[in-house]
Amino acid sequence: MTKLIIQGGRKLSGELEVTAAKNSYLPILAACLLCEEKIELHNYPYYSDTESMCEIITSLGGRIEKEGSVLTVDPSSLFSWKIESELASKVRSSIFTLGALLGRFKRAHVAYPGGCEIGARPIDIHLAGFRKLGVRVEEKHGYIYCNAEKMHPASIMLDFPSVGATESLIMASVNLEGQTRILNAAREPEIVDLQDFLNAMGADVRGAGSSEIIISGVKKLRGCSFTPIADRIIAGTYIIATAMCGGDVLLNGAKAEHLRALIDKIDKSACMIEVKNDKIRVKSDARPIAVGKMETSVYPGLPTDLQAQLLALATISEGSSMIVENVFESRFKHVPELIKMGADVHVKDRVAFVRGVKHLYGASVSGMDLRGTASLVLAGLVADGYTMISNVHHIDRGYKNIEIELSKLGADIKRIDD
Ligand code: EPZ
Repeated sequence: MTKLIIQGGRKLSGELEVTAAKNSYLPILAACLLCEEKIELHNYPYYSDTESMCEIITSLGGRIEKEGSVLTVDPSSLFSWKIESELASKVRSSIFTLGALLGRFKRAHVAYPGGCEIGARPIDIHLAGFRKLGVRVEEKHGYIYCNAEKMHPASIMLDFPSVGATESLIMASVNLEGQTRILNAAREPEIVDLQDFLNAMGADVRGAGSSEIIISGVKKLRGCSFTPIADRIIAGTYIIATAMCGGDVLLNGAKAEHLRALIDKIDKSACMIEVKNDKIRVKSDARPIAVGKMETSVYPGLPTDLQAQLLALATISEGSSMIVENVFESRFKHVPELIKMGADVHVKDRVAFVRGVKHLYGASVSGMDLRGTASLVLAGLVADGYTMISNVHHIDRGYKNIEIELSKLGADIKRIDD
């Protein structure tokens, strides 16, 4: 089994290029299914989740070529609209293909999606939106059967600003004659990136980043070349790592405006952050001061995908913190593992109460989901002694060779197969 071994206590210093956003690449890969011409995507990050999406595209008849950081997708020979469970259940983003397949074939048979076990992760908002568009939706035997022969434009009010539902419904509407509106849409930067990608293919999508998105159907999409944005959650993870370990790190490629909530929360208390164009410099030379109350929310609020990492920061900060997880109902699986390392945390419902301790201690811990495993890595970087982390496949879903990246910054971290 693959594990990460970390000897804590090293400061971090140096420079890193922030790799492309997983949560941009995944919907953009799904959106490639809408087009019948070749698409060239840059800065391909080789996360295991994006690799799974490439597998889904080839299973439908698409062709994929990878040359270094350039991914070429040729969806011209797509012949299927069916995604079996063994592939669909690997990633949450398989559900994004529903909208794209409806846009391409007017039908789709897709097995329920997978993804991190951080809650029930229903798809009712996705399906309610498709029904509003006149799609016939049937769920049986673990599959979603959709028939869009009678699909028509509509005004869709989302019950909750779901990122995935917003993205799915945009994709379903880009070549639907007429104008479709999505109200109470999610506002994440990755949705703006999806809009930019679709418009680079000749679509007419406007309003992404706001809570009202308007899609005017176009007849045909054309091939294009596109570079997705940098991953704000990876950038946030390294900012928090530096705040915890101390040091001086320069992150290239990430947009500070995508991390405003994090920066406002921890700048001056846990670290010093300087922003220059698309470079973020983080310095820390003292024990972080607890930030008190933190609540995750939809963008532009504090991202739920940084909650676990912020909780790790809180475990060694001076003072107490209260962390409220408002987006997912079961996203504290990293807490029992952090407690094994000496953290003083107790959870009640969606609230984690953290009392900062001076030291964490190396231990054998297990990753339970993507961002929770990232928080165990951060804790290992500051713990006294050795930390052994198992189930590292979770972290490989959204970080490429995290041990190599952190070693570049001076951490003592190795990947072993035992
Ligand atoms: C996306 O998941 C991201 N994944 C998640 O990142 C991220 O945490 C989440 O958005 C919120 O920002 C990808 O983009 C691949 P949602 P998604 O639909 O689309 C409820 C990571 O670590 N909901 O906005 O699944 C849902 O249960 C991952 O990179 C419904 O009730 O998130 C949750 O409580 C984890 N019905 C809330 O909405 C639905 O039909 C937010 O979910 C859909 C969602």
